[in-house]
Amino acid sequence: MAAGADVRCAVLALLVLDLLATGGDATGPVITGQYASSADKVVLSCNMSAPHAPIRGHKWMLGDKTLKAEEGNSDSFITYTIEGKVEEHSGVYECIYETNPVAKGNVSIEVQPQVVAYKKSEHGNEGDTGVLTCKSLSYPPVGNWFWFRSDQTPVVNGTDRYIIKSNGNKTELRILKLSIEQDTGDYHCNGTNMLGPGSATVNLRVRSRLAALWPFLGIVAEVLVLVTIIFIYEKRRKPDEVLDDDDGGSAPLKSNATNHKDKNVRQRNAN
Ligand SMILES: *[C@@H]1O[C@H](CO)[C@@H](O)[C@H](O)[C@H]1NC(C)=O
Ligand SMILES: *[C@@H]1O[C@H](CO)[C@@H](O)[C@H](O)[C@H]1NC(C)=O
Ligand SMILES: *[C@@H]1O[C@H](CO)[C@@H](O)[C@H](O)[C@H]1NC(C)=O
Ligand SMILES: *[C@@H]1O[C@H](CO)[C@@H](O)[C@H](O)[C@H]1NC(C)=O
Repeated sequence: MAAGADVRCAVLALLVLDLLATGGDATGPVITGQYASSADKVVLSCNMSAPHAPIRGHKWMLGDKTLKAEEGNSDSFITYTIEGKVEEHSGVYECIYETNPVAKGNVSIEVQPQVVAYKKSEHGNEGDTGVLTCKSLSYPPVGNWFWFRSDQTPVVNGTDRYIIKSNGNKTELRILKLSIEQDTGDYHCNGTNMLGPGSATVNLRVRSRLAALWPFLGIVAEVLVLVTIIFIYEKRRKPDEVLDDDDGGSAPLKSNATNHKDKNVRQRNAN
């Protein structure tokens, strides 16, 4: 009995050793990535477990953008600091060690959708198509977008005059044949990912066709008023001028002018 237990123990120990050995060989050093955030900064870090090949440097990347590169740094624990709120810097960051072969780890910053309205206030003319747009550039992308009226009634794609087009970054609500009574008001775009919801509000104002004409009508009215004023002025001026001519007051002026003319004539004659 005792001998049997010893053998079993030995076999178990060998198995554990085997697992450790093959595990180590197959995966190589392990890179642990994580982040810590405060109100105004986010610190990403990667740590490569020993043993590992000599490190000749490292870099941090987001997508295909290199954020920081340090040649000649042999540290296995590396950090990268981002100024700002964590919500605005979500994404999958990569730490890349220059070893042979290159070793990569990643730090994934995941947040609830940070939804913003493309324009907080939109306006359209009666009868036209209204377009309301919201976007979220946070990670993970939005899985589902919903639109609601301000009274929480859902706006359903394909019903009434609504067409909704969405992807992970963006949602667009088109309202056909805008109506002042039915469509004016607030619309909420709500996006959700696995971390929760996010939303923004867009206010839609619908102007009447006539309102769109107001500036034009204003100019027409202005021109009409000016033309009328000029017309009245001209009509009233003519009799005035006639009166002026008959007026005694203008007689001396006339005689002055004739005197002047006479003088000139005299001068010319003298010369
Ligand atoms: C990095 O990982 C090693 C184990 O591989 C650990 O001993 C060390 O404390 C870690 N360094 C930091 C700064 O976490
Ligand atoms: C809304 O419906 C149209 C077709 O009627 C479709 O092309 C579009 O993908 C739909 N949008 C959503 C968000 O389901
Ligand atoms: C988000 O937008 C980018 C371009 O800004 C695009 O490359 C990417 O495919 C979009 N993502 C999704 C999930 O649509
Ligand atoms: C959608 O977002 C608005 C705020 O923008 C919020 O009042 C409303 O409760 C949300 N609706 C749902 C169903 O999440």
